Amino acid sequence: MTVKKKAPKKRNNGLKFKGQKILLGITGGIAIYKSAALLRELTIEHGADVQVIMTDSALKFMSPLIFETFSGKPVWTSMFSDKEMVGVRHVEISKWADAVLISPATANIIGKAANGIADDLLSTVISGAGTKTIFAAAMETGMYENPIMQQNIKRLKDAGFGFVDPESGPLASGESGVGRLAESRVIVHSLLTHLKTGRLKGKKILVSAGPTREWIDPVRFISNPSTGRMGFSLAEAASAEGADVIVISGPTEVASPVGAELIKVSTAEEMKNAIVEKFAESDALVMSAAVGDYTYPEAGSEKLKKNGSDLTLNLKRTDDILSAISGDKGDKIIVGFSVETENIIENSKLKLHEKSMDFIVVNNPKENGAAFGHDTNKVSIIDRKGSVEELELMSKGELSTLIIDRVSNLLNGS
Ligand SMILES: Cc1cc2nc3c(=O)[nH]c(=O)nc-3n(C[C@H](O)[C@H](O)[C@H](O)COP(=O)(O)O)c2cc1C
Repeated sequence: MTVKKKAPKKRNNGLKFKGQKILLGITGGIAIYKSAALLRELTIEHGADVQVIMTDSALKFMSPLIFETFSGKPVWTSMFSDKEMVGVRHVEISKWADAVLISPATANIIGKAANGIADDLLSTVISGAGTKTIFAAAMETGMYENPIMQQNIKRLKDAGFGFVDPESGPLASGESGVGRLAESRVIVHSLLTHLKTGRLKGKKILVSAGPTREWIDPVRFISNPSTGRMGFSLAEAASAEGADVIVISGPTEVASPVGAELIKVSTAEEMKNAIVEKFAESDALVMSAAVGDYTYPEAGSEKLKKNGSDLTLNLKRTDDILSAISGDKGDKIIVGFSVETENIIENSKLKLHEKSMDFIVVNNPKENGAAFGHDTNKVSIIDRKGSVEELELMSKGELSTLIIDRVSNLLNGS
């Protein structure tokens, strides 16, 4: 058995943008107050190196101080100021940035970019950065629905610029309609997708997530502590690589994954039926759901009354989902997860072969910060050749990227 131990890594909180250089362009829209939180998320939570440019209008809404604090750099505001960067700043910054995110993006900056206008620092940088740029639009419904605005948006999208459509909801004017800035997790996901290489474009990835519930009566069920976070994070990582992603999830409290179709189920049987149906049209299945092994077939429609004595329930084995689909495997990739507390590697290797998996991700819930309920996980990955990679504690976001990279390699034959 080969055990490759990775060098210990510093614990971190996701670092989706570690090593990435982002230019954040802030324009004069009312949603500007959300930009401070977005910048903090990009730098402090996700490790991005961010340079901020504010337009003259943006400066009327907010002081640069908060953006300087969260970016750790002076904010640039002018094409011609001597106090700021020397040299041909718009050319240098366009080349420096891996991506240019405009958030919020006013009707004005979208109109200027769509028509090649470069009359201040930000619009000139966009003109140099071209399709590295993503606009997160926010404006009143009337401005957004204006046919000229729609033409501008179409022109930018057709040319390959990134665009985060605004959402519907209450607007600053007191009215309700389309025009609200998208949630920051949607903007972050679009930025990530724009930066990735699209290795899973055209591929269909099926992910199972969360726990299942086996009902004993209408008010009680048997379940497990899975939150769905690992599966949702895997779905977002696959979507960021351009895959069409379907997530089949048991009941969960966490926010739905961005960029994926979500199918909600409750019992192990519902989970199995949904997976069997969707597996037929998928290129890969990542089976991260914690599916119940036992069900109570005698569950009735009335609440079980308690009496003086103990209660014994006869539980029946649920169908094993991977066994149900392994006959249809063909070239499809199957990734399993296992939770073991003893003989971890040996038991997992057995499962890997029995259930025709391509690799298995092994959790030990006894490890601190691993498996259920945490934002982090500590796993080993075993492949069909028997090679075991022991990974250090890392965020579920980082682990998802590693797992999806392996799936991409297998699907692309690399
Ligand atoms: C209080 C207030 C709120 C505004 N909110 C928005 C907005 O949400 N979206 C938008 O496109 N323009 C909005 N504007 C108009 C822009 O500030 C204006 O079009 C400006 O020229 C934009 O300049 P910039 O794109 O260079 O930042 C707002 C103006 C004011 C006074």
